[in-house]
Amino acid sequence: MTDAALSAASASAALQAALPFTAEVERETAPIYARMSRVLPAVEWSVHAPYIAAIQRLKRERNAVILAHNYQTPEIYHGVADFVGDSLGLAQQAAKTPADIIVQCGVHFMAETSKVLSPEKTVLIPDRLAGCSLAASITGADVRLLRERFPGLPVVTYVNTSAEVKAESDICCTSANAVEVVESLGVPKVIFLPDEYLGKWVATQTLVELVLWKGHCEVHERFTGLEIEALRAADPGVFVLAHPECPPDVLAAADYVGSTAGMIREVGAAGVRRVVMITECSMSDNVATAHPDVEFVRPCNLCPHMKRITLPKILRSLENLEHRVEIAPEIGVRARRAVERMLEVARGAKR
Ligand code: 13P
Ligand code: SF4
Repeated sequence: MTDAALSAASASAALQAALPFTAEVERETAPIYARMSRVLPAVEWSVHAPYIAAIQRLKRERNAVILAHNYQTPEIYHGVADFVGDSLGLAQQAAKTPADIIVQCGVHFMAETSKVLSPEKTVLIPDRLAGCSLAASITGADVRLLRERFPGLPVVTYVNTSAEVKAESDICCTSANAVEVVESLGVPKVIFLPDEYLGKWVATQTLVELVLWKGHCEVHERFTGLEIEALRAADPGVFVLAHPECPPDVLAAADYVGSTAGMIREVGAAGVRRVVMITECSMSDNVATAHPDVEFVRPCNLCPHMKRITLPKILRSLENLEHRVEIAPEIGVRARRAVERMLEVARGAKR
């Protein structure tokens, strides 16, 4: 075996060797398990708990914070995260955390956003390959070509993009604030990138005209209006919440459309007994723990990129300070301007 093959084999052996579930670990992690016992069988807990205990300890030693997206699995979401949220919430936390190290449990563009906002901090992603089909759909060169094709139009860019694409943009947005961001510019027409379906949904909420790109989320584009019809036929009382990355016929059939954080808030506010979340699988598991009286119907489309993040990889990330997210300063400065401009709109919306 070559040196590289040997080191890959030993890394994968380390990932597979389970840590022991001792009485001390069981005692230490019992309050955490109490929060998620409804969605995680005890037999699985005995595998996760030792990692959770080790990660909690290392986090304190390293003055690290774990930011986890709402699509992370329950053992990460409830077990080790210091903050959970949608893309906007995680960006806001990254901007203000006093920690020295940020471990981003989400996909690569989220870790890049944290680095853009905190260039002086060490930002780690437990698996470098955690990508996103939207971020992969467009490059900085594409944005420059669009500017040539539509001179004078401002560019609004969804945060699900690389730092390079953000750097070419006037302002960023998330699914939580896309309409406010588009309207904040005070112009009749903008270029909106790269999610076509989010853009189409924004266009139904504003008089601003949008030039769209054909990027799609590989998870949400698989939902169909026919699926929603079938769910309603099976139970006319079911409350349908959908993420705006879904196709237009899905969104037209939904009772609520919003970001992952918006969907979570709405489950609490709507006072309904049966809900279906048209989004990534783990959302229902994570939200169900707080709503024991609500029944969750679970059509399940899984984000393979989000699922690359696991407890053993988070532990290795903290042990070895890997994988560091780095952004060239000339790109970081320009990307930061676009993200901060968005955060300013979000602060204005709160006032
Ligand atoms: P949110 O910002 O709504 O959490 O969405 C991020 C995402 O990647 C959804 O697929
Ligand atoms: Fe990207 Fe879709 Fe996965 Fe979200 S769910 S990270 S948009 S591929």
